[in-house]
Amino acid sequence: MTELHVEEAAKSLAGTVRVPGDKSISHRAIMLGSVADGPTRIHGFLVAEDCLRTVDCFRKMGVAISQPSADEVVVDGKGWEGLREPDAVLDVGNSGTTIRLLLGILAGRPFHSVIQGDASIARRPMKRVVKPLREMGAHIDGRQEGNYAPLAVRGGRLTGIEYTSPVASAQVKSAILLAGLQATGKTMVHEPCPSRDHTERMLSAFGVTVTRQGSTTIVDGMQRLQGGVQLRVPGDISSAAYFLVAASLVKGSSLLLKEVGINPTRTGILDVLQAMGGSVEILNRQTWGDEPVADLLVQASDLQATVIEGNLIPRLIDEIPVIAVLATQAEGTTIIRDAQELRVKETDRIATVSRFLKDMGANVEPTADGMIIHGPTPLKGAVVDTSGDHRIGMAAFVAGLIASGRTRICNAEAINVSFPGFAEQFRQLLR
Ligand code: S3P
Repeated sequence: MTELHVEEAAKSLAGTVRVPGDKSISHRAIMLGSVADGPTRIHGFLVAEDCLRTVDCFRKMGVAISQPSADEVVVDGKGWEGLREPDAVLDVGNSGTTIRLLLGILAGRPFHSVIQGDASIARRPMKRVVKPLREMGAHIDGRQEGNYAPLAVRGGRLTGIEYTSPVASAQVKSAILLAGLQATGKTMVHEPCPSRDHTERMLSAFGVTVTRQGSTTIVDGMQRLQGGVQLRVPGDISSAAYFLVAASLVKGSSLLLKEVGINPTRTGILDVLQAMGGSVEILNRQTWGDEPVADLLVQASDLQATVIEGNLIPRLIDEIPVIAVLATQAEGTTIIRDAQELRVKETDRIATVSRFLKDMGANVEPTADGMIIHGPTPLKGAVVDTSGDHRIGMAAFVAGLIASGRTRICNAEAINVSFPGFAEQFRQLLR
């Protein structure tokens, strides 16, 4: 158990930041590379606990994965049938993306496997992927009718389905698409509104045809992924979010965030900062493979409250803990609604965020599907337990940078799930 301390409010933040590689894209690069016909070279891979769990699961299924340099990974895919029955349990640790997307791959593989994760994973709902995968023909068992891990999977012949997902979830959509590629016939997924589309973009890079019409995604079955692909992973906008918020809040700050992914399904935080009167300039736009990338120049500003709801929610779902910190300093009442998905993340983030912000002196009301935050309120240092949730740890650290007195973050090792070296990177920017 490690503790992280922020001793006092920051005077200002200045400099250039390179955030680690995108977590969603890094997971997918290992997964798609593992089932492709030939090698995949990944540059800028996120070497953090969640993605290393994905690497470990595929190694247990016989895939050779090497790391020739610090953030470079080579996956030696041998096609779908290159995956072998693992002789040990596949342990996803804290990673929801690993377990859900892996289920989609395993659904079509003709062998038995068992998947488990940590205490948080064992509480997160899996029925959302288990139900459609069973409809396609997979056999999946687990606690409470297969809703909770550990899960036992026996994959095999699948039939394509047309499925309407009750939630806008890229994990659900991706699991069904990955099963659909191994099935006979077409697979069609409808979502209430579009979720992140990294799977679709990366499948195109592997030569797979994916059709998209609004929030419907379609793949034909029995498709193979062409190997020999080079992927470059952009900086994770979900990690950049902590710097965007901190620099917006700490007076006199100016940060340049280099090469951050700005896929439109992920940029809700930029829309929110703009709506609140923040200052973010998008510079040096590029495209890496199928993903848009840019530098972000952020400066401190006075902020007004806003309403965050509807189709915007999936575009910033993982940033809500730190957006809540932002809202405590905005003039007026910020309302976050339609975000009931927060209840089933690594922790119940409506509860964990409201609790730590209240402890720091903010005026926050949790609601069934979000939070109401009245600002501005001065924050004071407090003791915050991450409850094993990386994003709670990082959001509390940012709150600590604007709080009077000392903030102590307990169970801070959770941050390594997505951002090793987080606090050190921040400390270099303190002026
Ligand atoms: C992710 C999708 C989102 C997000 C998670 C990563 C992904 O979850 O919260 O951190 O990589 O597909 P949902 O698909 O459950 O919305």
